[in-house]
Amino acid sequence: MQAIKVLVTNQKGGVGKSTIAANLAAYLAIQNNVRVNLIDFDRQSSSSKWIARAPDIGLEVHQANLPYEDTGSLVLAEARRCLNKFSVACDISISDLTWTYAMSPEFMLEYDIILTPSATSKFEMASSEIFILEYIQKHINQIKSRRQHILMVPSRVDRKFQAEQTFLNLQNVEQCSVAPPIFWIPAIDDFVYEDFLCVSTNTEVAKNFSTFGGYVAKLIADKILTKKALHESEHAIKRAANISILDKYRAEQQREKQAKRADIRSWIPDFLVKK
Ligand SMILES: Nc1ncnc2c1ncn2[C@@H]1O[C@H](COP(=O)(O)OP(=O)(O)OP(=O)(O)O)[C@@H](O)[C@H]1O
Ligand SMILES: [Mg+2]
Repeated sequence: MQAIKVLVTNQKGGVGKSTIAANLAAYLAIQNNVRVNLIDFDRQSSSSKWIARAPDIGLEVHQANLPYEDTGSLVLAEARRCLNKFSVACDISISDLTWTYAMSPEFMLEYDIILTPSATSKFEMASSEIFILEYIQKHINQIKSRRQHILMVPSRVDRKFQAEQTFLNLQNVEQCSVAPPIFWIPAIDDFVYEDFLCVSTNTEVAKNFSTFGGYVAKLIADKILTKKALHESEHAIKRAANISILDKYRAEQQREKQAKRADIRSWIPDFLVKK
């Protein structure tokens, strides 16, 4: 089966996309013993640097530099090419991408799950909601038929934060849910590149990232099941179509044979035909 593709994106800068992408990849590889790749679409390479400098846990990293100076269709084509090329030979592929309007929203459709980290101030949440709602509005049919899931991730939030009050405009959207929050880590620079947050010696940090990682891992597991079911039903439909083509062919052959027999009989004198 193809890799499960996860995109971590928002057009907002500094919301924790790279921190989440690198550490989610690590959580999934460590806890679930699966092959995880990270595709870093950002020139700053923050998530790939984290993976390169932290202890080696077998994560594969690919840098994909997109030609933003070219036209939109070339950017989309190159992004798709990188995604397909780098998503082979793994179970889960995670992309870290700062969204820009030079990229076609169609690119989001390539993914099974979209994670949108967002700060939780009113302005930041509204802008993240608009970003996702615009995408859903344009592509609702494809999102539904692909059973894509969009996960809003409250990021860098205070420990007193209450998840029920966030992303109210998305709470009734079937394809969306809100992840357990990623809490604000004081003195985060002591952690960056040292090791992955889910195995941090700071138990609060480790617990927070493991809770978040576990939630995403469950979504991925559900996704694998639906993908398998979809794959099998597509296979069954194809098989049924093949059988009916074969049946039609056999019936045609049978009809031709009978017609030939009838034709021959018409030449045989009556007294030679066995009654
Ligand atoms: N949970 C957190 N608590 C405190 N600081 C954080 C947290 N997550 C990320 N940071 C810090 O916030 C800054 C931005 O994080 P990060 O680079 O992950 O965001 P980003 O959305 O990828 O940014 P960019 O848009 O520049 O790519 C970094 O300095 C990072 O160390
Ligand atoms: Mg980043």
